[in-house]
Amino acid sequence: MSTTKNILITGGAGFLGPMLASKLLKQGPCNVVLTDLHAPPQPNGVHPSTSNLELVAADLTNPSDISRLISLRPTWHAIFIFHGIMSVGCEENPALSTKVNLEATQALLKAVSSLSEKPRVVYASTQAVYGPPYTASGPITDDTPATPVGVYGTHKLIMEAHINDMNRRGLIDAFAVRLPTVTVRPGAPSRSAAAFLSGILREPLAGLECIVPIEDRAARQVICSPRVMIENFVRVMAAPSDAMPSHIRAIYMPGISVTLGEMYEAFEEVVGKEKLGLLKTERDPEAERLLNSWPQTADFGNARRMGLAFDESCVQIYREYVDSLKA
Ligand SMILES: NC(=O)c1ccc[n+]([C@@H]2O[C@H](COP(=O)([O-])OP(=O)(O)OC[C@H]3O[C@@H](n4cnc5c(N)ncnc54)[C@H](O)[C@@H]3O)[C@@H](O)[C@H]2O)c1
Repeated sequence: MSTTKNILITGGAGFLGPMLASKLLKQGPCNVVLTDLHAPPQPNGVHPSTSNLELVAADLTNPSDISRLISLRPTWHAIFIFHGIMSVGCEENPALSTKVNLEATQALLKAVSSLSEKPRVVYASTQAVYGPPYTASGPITDDTPATPVGVYGTHKLIMEAHINDMNRRGLIDAFAVRLPTVTVRPGAPSRSAAAFLSGILREPLAGLECIVPIEDRAARQVICSPRVMIENFVRVMAAPSDAMPSHIRAIYMPGISVTLGEMYEAFEEVVGKEKLGLLKTERDPEAERLLNSWPQTADFGNARRMGLAFDESCVQIYREYVDSLKA
């Protein structure tokens, strides 16, 4: 049995993949393969001369690219499945979501199931699997049914069911983690209805306007910081397989419930009043529909039982982003 912890991360040129790679490489001896449609750039904080990181181009809709990736190492300790099309992209092009979010992921899981040593699979799902009427009527609990109203959430839920069944049959050793909106995302806005939740801080700090697509200051969203999300990926990678029943593998990952009004207050506290004018409200009914269908509060029972980490407040999340810019 190999002792090297080989770890594969798909979606490796996106937001979370490079941050996770950087954390894993800092944390201990491991060998990370980061892959995306084009070879991902070197993640921030990883020395260019490191020999423990390989940056690989692969289109996961292409079966031969999947075989090539999986055979890069003799064994895998963990595989993080992060590639995908985000919420707005899925609504605009459901066929592309079928190809990438469903078929390519199924093909990857099939390839993983053929390995003799089973790696821990961590599949990035989303809180968008939840929907009305449960999202409007109170906290999401471990027993809340998933009732998505968008293509994105629906396809993630289909993959969760597939993972549950493959895990139950002993074909893979997996958890599906339902992410809240991770904010603040650096760089360009994503093709997600929730993109403004990062833009609200990121754009004014860069001297740019941010369009806020909802008016209601009492509207709630569940968010978490990149730091906490990455820490929790590492904890789920190490969690015992029996932390959840073999046919129930989805965990709603820790987030905090914040109103739009509280985001404005946190902005004022962390950035100051003068840049508030860069936040412009322009209602977008489609973004509003998706955002209002997502959870507003939750109790995170499974996440607490599994000892996952939590953020403290919106102010703390915003401060961490401001500090990351200084670093
Ligand atoms: N960031 C969040 O707030 C959030 C919230 C909920 C769920 N998630 C989920 O977490 C995962 C990671 O999120 P992220 O924000 O880093 O995503 P991202 O959009 O930044 O990155 C996704 C990556 O997938 C790649 N990709 C698309 N099609 C591909 C293909 N055919 N082959 C290979 N790669 C392909 C894209 O090029 C992109 O770099 C995603 O699956 C997302 O659905 C993220």
